Amino acid sequence: MAASSPMVLSLLLLASLTALLVLAPRLSPPQPPTGEQAPAAPGGGGGEEEEEADDLRLFRRAALESSAAGGPPKVAFLFLTNSDLTFAPLWERFFAGNEARLRVYVHADPAARLRLPPTPSFRGRFVAARPTRRADASLIAAARRLLAAALLDDPANAYFALLSQHCVPLHSFPRLYAALFPTPAAAAAATRARSYIEVLKGEPQMASRYAARGGEEGMLPEVPYERFRIGSQFFALARRHAVLVVRERRLWRKFRAPCVPEMAQDSCYPEEHYFPTLLDMADPGGVARYTLTRVNWTGSVAGHPHTYAAPEVSPRLIADLRASNHTHPHMFARKFAPDCLGPLLAIADTVIFKD
Ligand SMILES: *[C@@H]1O[C@H](CO)[C@@H](O)[C@H](O)[C@H]1NC(C)=O
Ligand SMILES: *[C@@H]1O[C@H](CO)[C@@H](O)[C@H](O)[C@H]1NC(C)=O
Repeated sequence: MAASSPMVLSLLLLASLTALLVLAPRLSPPQPPTGEQAPAAPGGGGGEEEEEADDLRLFRRAALESSAAGGPPKVAFLFLTNSDLTFAPLWERFFAGNEARLRVYVHADPAARLRLPPTPSFRGRFVAARPTRRADASLIAAARRLLAAALLDDPANAYFALLSQHCVPLHSFPRLYAALFPTPAAAAAATRARSYIEVLKGEPQMASRYAARGGEEGMLPEVPYERFRIGSQFFALARRHAVLVVRERRLWRKFRAPCVPEMAQDSCYPEEHYFPTLLDMADPGGVARYTLTRVNWTGSVAGHPHTYAAPEVSPRLIADLRASNHTHPHMFARKFAPDCLGPLLAIADTVIFKD
């Protein structure tokens, strides 16, 4: 962090030491296999201001972490969930043999009861979580918490892929890794890597989305309408952008505010605006402007994309979902219903992980 004076720096160091103490129990110890539920935040609950203060301590410390050389760069998989990680067995097969090049983190809504015990890659990987809800900024806060935890946990984490419990892999891990780090030189220069985040403007719903944020009255001067962007919340951020996000406070203050109540029903999705707007302002040349995660909006209902069910899973579907008009094929897809696990596992080795 570019501290402007020794005073600021010492305050930050003080904050980071406090955060160190607060953070110590955050990556919880391995859970017994019978563990039903992710642990809640230590001293969880608390008001919004307390939550904000906790997060701030965490983010300040994360922002001071620098990336370290030595060892291969890693991909951090950040799972944001409010229900069981049904596809854990599929992810286990995706991770298997690649453990030295990846890390897993889970933010599970403490109010949700997870019935399935976490499988080995997920056990003990739960970060301190707070409740998440649709149509408010809690999903942004949760994503920032995951980024901060992963930044702090391992300086080798070079990419941060946000996923949900409904996401599945479409390729093998080595194929994903080769896309993110195409050459040894690219791996060495991971600090200059670009982020895979969708950044769109001029979409038909933009005007109502901006109005839901309070329009100019709510968003100026930080976010004039021309700078307002939209994109899927499921991104893969390069490390320097993850740091940028956890350091950022100006736009967060704006996007944290509740939506205009009359518009909250249909137009309140701050998590689809905060990240693309911020990154397009801060580093427009450093983002690919597309996401590696495929989603199917055809026939969407109430803001939910098409959810694939077991009978739809086939080699043909995997091929269709991989197809992309961009440099890289899609690496992940959503949303899949829990009953897809069996059919997906059945074609995992012959189709999904065969590149
Ligand atoms: C997208 O979803 C629609 C149903 O809403 C389905 O008919 C279509 O085949 C899906 N597209 C792909 C590529 O799976
Ligand atoms: C690629 O672009 C073409 C032409 O715009 C479009 O019809 C097609 O749906 C796109 N494919 C994907 C996978 O987005």
